[in-house]
Amino acid sequence: MTRHFLNLSDAGGDAIAAMLADAIDRKALRKGWPKGKPDADRPLDGHVLAMIFEKSSTRTRFSFEMAMRQLGGSAIVADAGSMQLGRGETVADTAQVLSRYVDAIMLRTDGHDNVEEMARHASVPVINALTDLSHPCQIVADLLTIVEHGKALPGLQLAWLGDGNNVLNSIVEAAGLMQFDVRIGCPEGYDPDEGFIGRARQGGAKISIHRDAAEAAAGADIIVADTWISMGQEGGEAKMADMSPYQVDAALMGQAKPDALFLHCLPAHRGEEVTPAVIDGPQSVIFDEAENRLHAQKSILRWVFGQL
Ligand code: CP
Ligand code: NVA
Repeated sequence: MTRHFLNLSDAGGDAIAAMLADAIDRKALRKGWPKGKPDADRPLDGHVLAMIFEKSSTRTRFSFEMAMRQLGGSAIVADAGSMQLGRGETVADTAQVLSRYVDAIMLRTDGHDNVEEMARHASVPVINALTDLSHPCQIVADLLTIVEHGKALPGLQLAWLGDGNNVLNSIVEAAGLMQFDVRIGCPEGYDPDEGFIGRARQGGAKISIHRDAAEAAAGADIIVADTWISMGQEGGEAKMADMSPYQVDAALMGQAKPDALFLHCLPAHRGEEVTPAVIDGPQSVIFDEAENRLHAQKSILRWVFGQL
């Protein structure tokens, strides 16, 4: 069976735990090396990843390409707009053609149905590099960052402030798989996907939605924020106004535990979802989090190839 990684539950809790352990080991083994030097064991020697972007990216693009280099393989990056895909060639045909050239396909796209369609027709692993519905690769990096900073996942209290978006959906999914709780502070009308919430609750996670930001943040181990306007969304003054009570500032951080960490997947908008004092302050681990995209993705890649 071809392993696809469209959502975290495609792997499941045990595989995610294995990815985190693998990422910690491999990160330690190559500490201080030049970044383009392959890992000693070159576990994906000769493998090629096709990376297709329908939307902008800095971290996902660079971290996946460097991940393939470090694993001993390589990557081909293309913007969907420069492919025939952008002129109406079907996802199904693209999937079958690319499957003849490369060993795995990574896709960043708007509609989650596009990654599902790609996976249905590809004979090689397909990885979701962000859709409007979810961003599973980001959350493996986030969990790695949390664990690295000495916090155990079971029983963890994570608070999310702001829009109920793709990143939050994957956090909620992770909560059900890894047994932690999510306290969501968001305005009415911006709740995350109900399907993810239902499955996480079935998995044993406590997921609560609060209209009061301070109530959501109270006693949290982790505070997470993201842009109020995701790529491709209509922005507008109305949404910004709805979101403004959920800005993470020093007072809101003060509601969390004294050793709470601040996470943000980036790119950030200082002065909107988070104040400069918080995101550039001592509790912020955003650059460890960004670095961990690389280490986490190496383990995701090893998982899709059946090595974990
Ligand atoms: N966090 C994240 O996915 O960043 P990019 O959009 O830069 O890839
Ligand atoms: N929610 C954001 C995440 C960016 C990495 C977006 O979709 O634009």
